[in-house]
Amino acid sequence: MIVCVCHRVSDRDIAIAASSGCASFEALQDELRVATACGACHDCACEVFEESRVAGGSSLGRGKTIAIQPLLAA
Ligand code: FES
Repeated sequence: MIVCVCHRVSDRDIAIAASSGCASFEALQDELRVATACGACHDCACEVFEESRVAGGSSLGRGKTIAIQPLLAA
């Protein structure tokens, strides 16, 4: 999905930048120029950036399966 029409920045572009260590929204703006023209995308871009940062941090353990064995009475 295109978030910033002025600079053709997608939600995927923002997620990649966030997971690549972009530390703040201002740094994201420097890198992608998102929300630096008309500003209409600012709130949406901020939201996507924050969600991407949260998802990146919590995805470290994602995909691991823990097997729980029931205790058997002897
Ligand atoms: S739509 Fe992003 S600056 Fe205009």
